[in-house]
Amino acid sequence: MDTTKIKSKFNELFGADGTLYTAPGRINLIGEHTDYNGGFVLPGAIDKAMYCMIQPNGGERVKAFALDLNESSEFGLKTEKDKPTEGWAKYIFGVCREMIKKGKTIPGFNIVISGDVPLGAGMSSSAALESAVGFALNDQFGLGFTRKEIALMGQATEHNYVGVKCGIMDQFVSCLGKEGALIRLDCRSLEYEYVPFKPFGYQLVLINTGVSHELASSAYNKRRESCERVVAEIAKTHPEVKFLRDADLKQLKEVKNKVSAEDYMRAEFVIEEIQRLLDTCEALKKNDFETVGKKMYETHEGLSKKYEVSCLELDFLNDQAKLRGVTGSRVMGGGFGGCTINLVKDEKAKDFVEKTSEAYEKAFGFRPKVYDVVIKDGARKITN
Ligand code: GLA
Repeated sequence: MDTTKIKSKFNELFGADGTLYTAPGRINLIGEHTDYNGGFVLPGAIDKAMYCMIQPNGGERVKAFALDLNESSEFGLKTEKDKPTEGWAKYIFGVCREMIKKGKTIPGFNIVISGDVPLGAGMSSSAALESAVGFALNDQFGLGFTRKEIALMGQATEHNYVGVKCGIMDQFVSCLGKEGALIRLDCRSLEYEYVPFKPFGYQLVLINTGVSHELASSAYNKRRESCERVVAEIAKTHPEVKFLRDADLKQLKEVKNKVSAEDYMRAEFVIEEIQRLLDTCEALKKNDFETVGKKMYETHEGLSKKYEVSCLELDFLNDQAKLRGVTGSRVMGGGFGGCTINLVKDEKAKDFVEKTSEAYEKAFGFRPKVYDVVIKDGARKITN
């Protein structure tokens, strides 16, 4: 992204130069809604990111400007009552407050934010913002947090200041992503391993439904509650089960009559999805992308029918992918809108994108945005 505009706005507003930091959005190859169930995920950081230019201002207040919205916000950090009213500023405030809760002092600072992660498209623009701000503050004020801790504080910001009870996947990969590699993250222990991702002969393409999932947080939280209710029921006879990750389909069946049909279906999806991720990792080791693709379609089916986080437009794109011989396709991220992620053979990619865009326009009245996926590094300072 061209960052000169951030720099000139910062200069215009604050009469000086600041330091520039960035943190990326993400894709997730497979393993959806598994993170808050203690399961595995397989995300990668992408070449679309949030940026923030920042400089201590010698005072106690934060003076913030969101370039893409042309909006400013000013707030203190002393108490929870200082919480700003602007939605985007709550992320900055939240990250600061989470750091303060850990015993740190955050002096006043000036900040300008901007980015090219499409909003509400399932690429985690909010996690990118939390990670960029967390990383920047940590570096500017020498707070000594690790990347993992910064990710956890980003997640806590969602929980405590935004109201989304999300898992750790998005912030983790935004902070710890590595060029050319996916992260196989165990969300129960937070142990992780980099999985080189070079799908020779294939490419990943995202197609954006243009349906924003921004208002989906309550539906997201409800999915989480369903999973927790099922865990509580299973734990009555299997106390070692703390997350759905710890349970198997047999244990789930034992509580079939004790939980609602809906909760049962949600939990079944999660347990199956965790296994699908493990199978996908095995297939990746053998460069067996046909199996990877098959698993992606199975995930879509589960997300659509059992977890019920798809929508008309996402299902349409998934059908288009099937129709055009795409190797794998599914709704990506939380769902309720956003993008499909497609694993497609190089020679089929152009035709798939063109024909699908045409069909989508016919059905919904506009051409969907399409993004090639490039796997990049996580949060960093930009020095030049
Ligand atoms: C959102 C959340 C993540 C994860 C995904 C679904 O992106 O922020 O924690 O739960 O949905 O896999």
